[in-house]
Amino acid sequence: MAKVLVVTSGKGGVGKTTTTAALGAALAKAGQNVVLVDFDVGLRNLDLVMGAERRVVFDLINVIQGDANLAQALIKDKRVDTLSLLPASQTRDKDALTPEGVAKVIADLSKKFDWVICDSPAGIERGAQMAMHHADMAVIVTNPEVSSVRDSDRIIGMLDSTTEKAKAGEKIEKFLLITRYDPQRAARGDMLGTDDVLEILSIPLLGIIPESPDVLKASNVGAPVTIAEPESAPARAYTEAARRLMGEKVAVTVPAERKGLFDWLFKRRVA
Ligand SMILES: Nc1ncnc2c1ncn2[C@@H]1O[C@H](COP(=O)(O)OP(=O)(O)OP(=O)(O)O)[C@@H](O)[C@H]1O
Ligand SMILES: [Mg+2]
Repeated sequence: MAKVLVVTSGKGGVGKTTTTAALGAALAKAGQNVVLVDFDVGLRNLDLVMGAERRVVFDLINVIQGDANLAQALIKDKRVDTLSLLPASQTRDKDALTPEGVAKVIADLSKKFDWVICDSPAGIERGAQMAMHHADMAVIVTNPEVSSVRDSDRIIGMLDSTTEKAKAGEKIEKFLLITRYDPQRAARGDMLGTDDVLEILSIPLLGIIPESPDVLKASNVGAPVTIAEPESAPARAYTEAARRLMGEKVAVTVPAERKGLFDWLFKRRVA
């Protein structure tokens, strides 16, 4: 039986799609059978980040409406053969995402894969609720800034109240992923520190992903950063986060250039 994982945030543009692709690819590279499901009906970004936009024929809503079966709609990654994508539709009505339809698709995918990773749209409305509804686990993507932390707090509340697990009196496993972290800006006080974010949200930390041009570089060539730039700082942080998801104990480090880290330590000491 698969683990159903939702990547969610509330706030838009914090790195959910980047994270879905990078974590999914890292898990697949570790030999796990992974499917990424794009719930962002109307925007459909995950296929672009995965470099699969020209291969989309059928999508999640086609499958829900019975116009295509899963085998027709799933796109197998050409680089990692244990990685697949179920794309979202760009044009269709969001109301076509029915609770029964989503439940069936998730149940069917759960029989075929080890991980079903749902990329949530921004916001707290229908699409985001559908993406989280069947989750066993949630990765809450948060940028170290007040508005993102506040939205993450709301999403944590929803994960604990509106989902299938919550309604059955069970808990979703929740993990915090801090993304777009810039140690220099944090040291200057332009950004919240990781300690502040952790204290406010108080859920276990899955990882800290640094702000890095390698992320954009990878998405421009249509590849998750863990495939395109596996030795880069963000890819290493995502790969370690994937190992933690698989239950390995790996210490979380604050990403920094060596010089930056010394700066940071020094400033902390003199502050
Ligand atoms: N660690 C990072 N370093 C630099 N840029 C990043 C990083 N993570 C994400 N980005 C950039 O931030 C932008 C938003 O990322 P992404 O699309 O993954 O966010 P999202 O949460 O899925 O957005 P939406 O809410 O619209 O779905 C993209 O341009 C992406 O390349
Ligand atoms: Mg997105």
